[in-house]
Amino acid sequence: MAAPAPRDVAVLLLLLFPVLAPVASAVPFIVLHGIGDECGNDGLASFTEMLGEWSGSKGYCILDFTNGKYVFLSEIGKGAWDSWLMPLQEQVKKMKELSEGYNIVGLSQGNLIGRAVIEYCDCGPPVKNFISIGGPHAGTASVPLCGSGFLCILIDNLIKLEIYSDYVQAHLAPTGYLKIPTDMEDYLKGCRFLPKLNNEIPSERNATYKERFSSLENLVLIMFEDDAVLIPRETAWFGYYPDGAFNPVLPPQETKLYTEDWIGLKTLDEAGRVKFVSVPGGHLRISRSDMKKYIVPYLKPDALSKQSIRRTCRFESA
Ligand SMILES: *[C@@H]1O[C@H](CO)[C@@H](O)[C@H](O)[C@H]1NC(C)=O
Repeated sequence: MAAPAPRDVAVLLLLLFPVLAPVASAVPFIVLHGIGDECGNDGLASFTEMLGEWSGSKGYCILDFTNGKYVFLSEIGKGAWDSWLMPLQEQVKKMKELSEGYNIVGLSQGNLIGRAVIEYCDCGPPVKNFISIGGPHAGTASVPLCGSGFLCILIDNLIKLEIYSDYVQAHLAPTGYLKIPTDMEDYLKGCRFLPKLNNEIPSERNATYKERFSSLENLVLIMFEDDAVLIPRETAWFGYYPDGAFNPVLPPQETKLYTEDWIGLKTLDEAGRVKFVSVPGGHLRISRSDMKKYIVPYLKPDALSKQSIRRTCRFESA
């Protein structure tokens, strides 16, 4: 009787030890981009592809930005700043590929979406590593991505007139995190997005957001040394101006968000799980070598800690 071919042996082993079969399963990642980008754009597509290739993990781009709105690629829902969150939660829950947990790579405004998924998403699969590239985490004191063109001046004036009015909040996404330090009262009252995400309103703090955010295994905060889009650039590290003044820029550890630990940044930092990274270049101009150095290690399968944190489904009575 002839010896079985090696391939048959492999099949036999799989049958005998079905439990041992899937040895190293790579954790997938999703890329959440900023305003004015689309998954099909060359830059973003090759960014996702390169990260996938270098890390050996599969990357997904699931959100487009079209006609001033975020739109889901596999259609579940669409909408502006307020209404994409629910569909995104559903999207993430429905993707079988992500069901064992996943990593998030955020670009610019996409980081706030990523954080909303982590903080608000009920019973979703766990997010393990969150790599934030140029995110306006503490807000921004200027309209992002707007130059000096006619439309920008128009928008700028509209925003200066009534940045926190319902109309502007509903129609212009960036105002969801525009934060003028000398107008904190209106910001806290009228800004729809960031105060909630940052647990900034004393009477409305939700401990669940903190619990979820601080369950991350790693939080990588990448800031660009010459960022002229985020004002101040330190917002990428959760640094910001003090309330009531435009100077000095407080380092993250001196902000109230950190010292009072509104969302668990301090908890994460004290556990050694926050990496504050500064790279040369303008907004989002990350070099390939810095991608390899600061992003790829967190996407590799072996980057996971042994005891990964399982998020269990909790049912809360109203
Ligand atoms: C806190 O947030 C969670 C998750 O979004 C939600 O289920 C819960 O009802 C919130 N709690 C309060 C008191 O608002």
